[in-house]
Amino acid sequence: MDQQQTPFLDSLNKAKNAREYSFHMPGHKFIAGVNTPITDFMGEAAFEADLNEISPGVDYLHAPKGALVEAQRLAAEAVGADRSFFLINGSTVGNQASMLAAVRDGQTVIVPRSAHRSVYGGLILSGANPVYVPPVYHPQVEFPLAVPLGTVRELLVSHPNAAAVQITSPNYYGYLSDVRGLATLAHEHNIPLLVDEAHGAHLPFHPDLPASGVQVGADLVVQSSHKTVGALTQSALLHLSGTRIAAAQLEQILSLIQSSSPSALLMASLDAARQQMATHGRELLTRTIQRAAHAREAIRNISGLWCYGDELVGAYGIFAHDPTKLVIRVVDTGMNGHIFAEHLAHEHNVYGEFVDPKHIICSITIADDEQRVDYLLNALKSVAARGKYKIDSSTSAGLTPPNLPQMIINPRQANFAPSKSMPLAQAVGEICAEQIMPYPPGIPLLLPGERIDADMLDYLHYVKAQGVSIVGPEDTTLEYVRVIDKQT
Ligand SMILES: Cc1ncc(COP(=O)(O)O)c(C=O)c1O
Repeated sequence: MDQQQTPFLDSLNKAKNAREYSFHMPGHKFIAGVNTPITDFMGEAAFEADLNEISPGVDYLHAPKGALVEAQRLAAEAVGADRSFFLINGSTVGNQASMLAAVRDGQTVIVPRSAHRSVYGGLILSGANPVYVPPVYHPQVEFPLAVPLGTVRELLVSHPNAAAVQITSPNYYGYLSDVRGLATLAHEHNIPLLVDEAHGAHLPFHPDLPASGVQVGADLVVQSSHKTVGALTQSALLHLSGTRIAAAQLEQILSLIQSSSPSALLMASLDAARQQMATHGRELLTRTIQRAAHAREAIRNISGLWCYGDELVGAYGIFAHDPTKLVIRVVDTGMNGHIFAEHLAHEHNVYGEFVDPKHIICSITIADDEQRVDYLLNALKSVAARGKYKIDSSTSAGLTPPNLPQMIINPRQANFAPSKSMPLAQAVGEICAEQIMPYPPGIPLLLPGERIDADMLDYLHYVKAQGVSIVGPEDTTLEYVRVIDKQT
């Protein structure tokens, strides 16, 4: 196929210039109905191009017949998938659709405990029973960076009826699991591997980057094209390979859970981003990788800072590192990640992608030229120079989290079960009805449907005493907890 083509974008251009007399949605009728504050803010062009399938020549995502068939074919060919689907609700909807396509109500699926909440959403929608891969905290980074192959192998032995394995790779930190090994393992058990590759839309386009799941045998791969390549926010791709997942069923699921009025702007941006990466990705990414390598080296030479890379590969399940992610250890400056990030923001207008107590993660993309990378380096140097080096940098002394709690009812059952609030101190033996997640590290201690036991209660008291923020529950002070109301 000719990857220079942008069939959907071209069709919009034609339709836009046709200037029909529209007596249909959108109500703004391509500009006349738009309020000026919004056009003052973003111009008129986006409204003029905000077409839908009623306009002549514009294809429809949920029943594509022309330009969108072509555009999605080009997207599949560009990464080597059998089929690719445009998503207009991010990787969030991709993860939900993957789960719905791979597992049915009551079936078992192997999922990392550190999965994105959209995966949990997929569990609620599908009614599947999750078996969680326990988080293995990396001793230096203090976050689970990968899904160890050996652990999944053991879980498949203890849960031979598992219907799918789902993983996230790469994660926010740019670390990848052994996706090829996991795909082989899943296929030995005749089940699909679903990969949340939200942070890896650029991976297929350069041989020096770790392989994308699409290239190493995963059945479904979800990529947020808005995160690491040049598409609009909310646009993403779902790639299908092989026959373990039925394409027709996947299409139906996507129609069910995505808007029936898909944004042409999002889809056109997917078309254009694919063209850019397929035709110029290699040269653009060569520069990106070089700039990130230069930045990594320079950061390592700034007093008090360190930048992780592939030296962590080979342990704790880590198979590869995406060099475009700068995992910057800042805590040895005497400032934790959040304080360091505040200085970066207020003094230099620099914002990273993710912050944890010890690190700031910066994503270098094809958009970052030398000047932007130098600006980042100068900002890092200037903030690091404020710190008092080598003060005590330990933040996690104390109890380790208890084993994963027992799941009594599955996420879907818990989502619909009646619940009540009660004092946490009296909640041993109760089934939790809400998510309780200390942040950091942002991995749930309890999920709806799981038993609160005495060890967990002790640990929750400990976390509370440490002043760690709690995300998820109604009462974030944890005086009270919402539990399943067994009376109703
Ligand atoms: C690992 C992971 N998966 C999925 C998502 C959801 O992606 P999107 O924002 O494109 O819906 C995110 C978003 O941050 C993520 O980090």
